Amino acid sequence: MSRIYNVAIVGLGIGRSHLIEGYLPNADKFKVIAVCDLNQERLDAFADEYRIPRRTTSFADLLAMDDLDIIDVCTPPMVHRGQILEGLAAGKHVICEKPLVGSLAQADEVIAAEKQARGRLMPVFQYRYGDGIQQARAIIEAGIAGKPFVATAETLWTRGADYYAVPWRGKWATELGGTLMTHAIHIHDIVTYLMGDVSRLFGRVATRVNDIEVEDCVSASCELASGALASFTATLGATEEISRIHLAFENVTFESDYAPYQPGTKPWRIVPRSPEVDARIQSLLTGWKHVPPRFTGQFERFYEALETGGPLPVTSADSRRALELVTAFYHSSATHQDVVLPIGPDHPRYESWVPEAFRQAAE
Ligand SMILES: NC(=O)c1ccc[n+]([C@@H]2O[C@H](COP(=O)([O-])OP(=O)(O)OC[C@H]3O[C@@H](n4cnc5c(N)ncnc54)[C@H](O)[C@@H]3O)[C@@H](O)[C@H]2O)c1
Repeated sequence: MSRIYNVAIVGLGIGRSHLIEGYLPNADKFKVIAVCDLNQERLDAFADEYRIPRRTTSFADLLAMDDLDIIDVCTPPMVHRGQILEGLAAGKHVICEKPLVGSLAQADEVIAAEKQARGRLMPVFQYRYGDGIQQARAIIEAGIAGKPFVATAETLWTRGADYYAVPWRGKWATELGGTLMTHAIHIHDIVTYLMGDVSRLFGRVATRVNDIEVEDCVSASCELASGALASFTATLGATEEISRIHLAFENVTFESDYAPYQPGTKPWRIVPRSPEVDARIQSLLTGWKHVPPRFTGQFERFYEALETGGPLPVTSADSRRALELVTAFYHSSATHQDVVLPIGPDHPRYESWVPEAFRQAAE
């Protein structure tokens, strides 16, 4: 019989989706034995509904559980760094929601901690999973798509006052950023996952939709390391919610499904340049093995990585790359300059991307 890993979920907002989509469909791989939330009412309702054996309001209680293998951090962004470091120091594997941490300096700190740890650290980027995006990736990796030309990525979502009524949202000190950090991060990750790293970015951020500190509209023009060009747009003021990724390669154009919260799931529109390219794609996809979407797919692959010692489906380096893009966006917008990536310790926003006016509150 294969091993079942014991899991604790901390933070029971999106933590509920981790349970329903990630752990329950993978019950032969994971068992949620504990839940933790500061909100006693939410904790009790959750633990009762799903019959979770242990419940606590204290994160330290989880660290002391010898039979616990994985801590799944689903708390608000400003809590992540501390819980990641403590979880790794206690010898646990750690899964952590986005954004992983609040600066590139902190990203490098947790990457260093992970190197010393017995456990592994997997950030969440569940949008990468599902047949649509994984088929696109397979075609690109097989070398069929050819040279990348251009990409457009649009995150056109709707968030209003009710969403920002949750106290940690909309503030630099707690959300750590705006739509770049919380929403568009998924769609931008898909572009780099499929087309490669960004090497230069010229961008703007603005707060136009909500009465909040952080941005809710963004736009950027980028150059990728391959020489391809990409443009990124996001707003929280859309009247119709879509996510759309359009990738033009030499031999194939890919366009995502528009489903805002799972653009990777349904088959993508794949347009080959010639019948020969089409035949290669058809041959590659013959006998395609279904990739479950979102948390189901990501956590299934996490299990494989734990069992085999192979690469994690999403790494802390992937997460750093996403935060580097965010840093470049904020710096370019503030300085009206082009930003060159990668970004290292000598960059003025390496320690913090928070605007000077809000920095004290965020520290
Ligand atoms: N991957 C995704 O698609 C996705 C979707 C939504 C949210 N998220 C991310 O998940 C995180 C949580 O967001 P949410 O919308 O679920 O927030 P939420 O406010 O709905 O839930 C967070 C929960 O964490 C609890 N909490 C706060 N501090 C705690 C602590 N120190 N110890 C234990 N519990 C604590 C709160 O009581 C609350 O119940 C954020 O980082 C957010 O960006 C990711």
